[in-house]
Amino acid sequence: MRLSSYFMPTLKENPIEAQIVSHRLMLRAGLIYQTASGIYAWLPLGLRVLKKIIKIVREEQNRAGAQELLMPTIQLADLWKESGRYNDYGKELLRISDRHNREMLFGPTNEEMITAIFRDSVKSFRELPKILYHIQWKFRDELRPRFGVMRGREFLMKDGYSFDIDSLSSKRSYNRMFVAYMKTFTRMGLKAIPTRADSGPIGGDLSYEFHILAENGDDTLFVHRDLIESNWKNRDVDYDSDLQFIIDEFVNKCAVTEEKYDLTKMTNDIIKVHGIEVGHIFNFGTKYSKAMNAKVTGSNGKLVELEMGSYGIGVSRLVGALIEAFHDDAGIVWPESVAPFRLGIINLKKNDSCCSAVCEKLYNDLGDDVLYDDRDERVGVKLTDMDLIGLPWSIIVGPRSIVNDRVELKNRKTGEYQELSIEAIMKRFAT
Ligand SMILES: Nc1ncnc2c1ncn2[C@@H]1O[C@H](COP(=O)(O)OP(=O)(O)O)[C@@H](O)[C@H]1O
Ligand SMILES: [Mg+2]
Repeated sequence: MRLSSYFMPTLKENPIEAQIVSHRLMLRAGLIYQTASGIYAWLPLGLRVLKKIIKIVREEQNRAGAQELLMPTIQLADLWKESGRYNDYGKELLRISDRHNREMLFGPTNEEMITAIFRDSVKSFRELPKILYHIQWKFRDELRPRFGVMRGREFLMKDGYSFDIDSLSSKRSYNRMFVAYMKTFTRMGLKAIPTRADSGPIGGDLSYEFHILAENGDDTLFVHRDLIESNWKNRDVDYDSDLQFIIDEFVNKCAVTEEKYDLTKMTNDIIKVHGIEVGHIFNFGTKYSKAMNAKVTGSNGKLVELEMGSYGIGVSRLVGALIEAFHDDAGIVWPESVAPFRLGIINLKKNDSCCSAVCEKLYNDLGDDVLYDDRDERVGVKLTDMDLIGLPWSIIVGPRSIVNDRVELKNRKTGEYQELSIEAIMKRFAT
């Protein structure tokens, strides 16, 4: 992409409405535009990040055996009356009616809809287990939308649902998602802490939230020191094997949300921290299958209620959470896996034919994931903007080094410059 024609409306000043650094930087770097309270348009640069996050989420869901579908955003109220949640959900539910005065709603989540789809399509235990997911916009009329995309009203979620014949098998599906979540967040460069969460009136201890530690995090957590210091490395996992031993690495060490706080279990090794909830997995047994009469025939020919779980990832929230985790005074510092472009090219002297020729060649040869600053702007502006948007690497082409066929490579994270031959650059970044 050529910056001279790219739609990337950056701001020089800090927008006053933004209270936390990620919100400020998202507005300043031109990632989002607020259209209403808690509702944002994703501008081209922000959308590229969102798509990279979606890709990682999707790949790890598929790898764990989940299958993608796409359910609509608008749902019939009747479905929610079946589960009883039409009344329970309260004011967060955006209720609408169509021209025939039918009650409808903008989905805040999809347990009811997926249960209806499954109930009407699957009849026998032989078709189980199944995990289905989609990545779709949700609406929750939050009382206090804040911190930009972190607590929006319209937001993008990956929500998955598992269907099993019994609780043992259901636990296996839950374990798959647990491990898939660790892999997903690790690939984004994040350290996610699995935290035991309140499972509400249904009970059970199979409810874990995944938190990114951050001073600005909305949630208060109590976490064992070892978990904070641990460095979980991504690894290949055989999803058909017993995953419990991987999960035990985390759940054996205490991490709980405030609701689960128990003074009697506090030791000196447990630290109070703040976190951002980026994912939530929950095994709720037969809550929805019972209410909505979702049954299959078991091996003995009798009808059994489906055992279910649901698994959410805050896809749009992750963009903010990533910036909270990765920024410095100059701007965003994207991890390579989610950066909007993997590489920037800065032409320091646009009217120097040699600089321009080299930039053009690099730009044409290095693939689509490159942002070329070919603007007629001062050098200072170009360098500042590149730091603000936080691409991991930028190639700086200037008249001084180009006479020796060399350019500079800047590492955004360390701030280090390295002089390299054009050939070396091509080799390093060729796709
Ligand atoms: N208002 C919101 N804005 C952005 N992301 C959200 C919002 N509410 C929830 N999420 C994301 O969706 C994930 C799944 O939601 P869920 O656990 O059902 O929500 P909650 O924790 O609010 O009950 C959460 O872990 C979070 O990352
Ligand atoms: Mg939650």
